[in-house]
Amino acid sequence: MDDSDRAFEHAVVADGTALGSPRTDDFTRHGWAHGRLRVRTEGPGWKQFASAWDDLVPDAYLDSARCRRNRRYGRVLAHRDGTLEPLHGSQFFQSKAVNPVFGGQLRVFEPLSEAAFASLEFAEILRESVVFVNRVAGTHDWELGIHFIRVIAEPHQGADPAPEGRHSDGHAYVSIHLIGRHQCVGGENQVFRRGLPDSEYAVTMTEPLEVLMLSDTTMEHGVSEIRAMDPSLSGWRDTLIVDFNIVLDPAEVPGRTHSSMH
Ligand SMILES: [Fe+2]
Repeated sequence: MDDSDRAFEHAVVADGTALGSPRTDDFTRHGWAHGRLRVRTEGPGWKQFASAWDDLVPDAYLDSARCRRNRRYGRVLAHRDGTLEPLHGSQFFQSKAVNPVFGGQLRVFEPLSEAAFASLEFAEILRESVVFVNRVAGTHDWELGIHFIRVIAEPHQGADPAPEGRHSDGHAYVSIHLIGRHQCVGGENQVFRRGLPDSEYAVTMTEPLEVLMLSDTTMEHGVSEIRAMDPSLSGWRDTLIVDFNIVLDPAEVPGRTHSSMH
């Protein structure tokens, strides 16, 4: 990391509330970008969208991992003309090589609700993220894998948002959006260049819709544990994670609905 990189890092971290949109030139240079989406996070529409995180279900695949995690999963075909087509099916597969802890099995999660798919805010988040990725990767059709996740720290316990540790997820790009935090500390996102030992960037996201855009082929990421601020109570951290995979032929994508979000 040279001095200009450090200056950039400080400019971003020093005042979280002044965060601008993630910058494509940062992404092209580093393989990641941190910012905040220009989607409203006030008002009844946002409140209703964020309340979807109160309606997630326990992750049945966690076994003994040191984490309590509720989630739902959905898929969207982001067409190159801007149409966002919800897809049927909520199966999720990662190879054992990509995810030694949870990979090598077909995981079927509870689907995202129809109310979530009807949310204007959700469509705007996806649209803005897809526009960003199309700018850095060239315009493509993308299959989006969309994870709504709440990680919960029980009283007097820590919870690991990513029990697999430092990792990449086997996609082309990944965006990690903070939805909100409820009386929790920790949950620092760390970004590593593949093959290098030290993190290149680290940020504890606190603002709704702060986002980390990542190249999943050149970078790895991790998250530190969370703990409840008041240790006698539970605390939690809500995130939206979007996986981007290039689609060569939309006709081959399973679960087509030929419908469209907002
Ligand atoms: Fe990940």
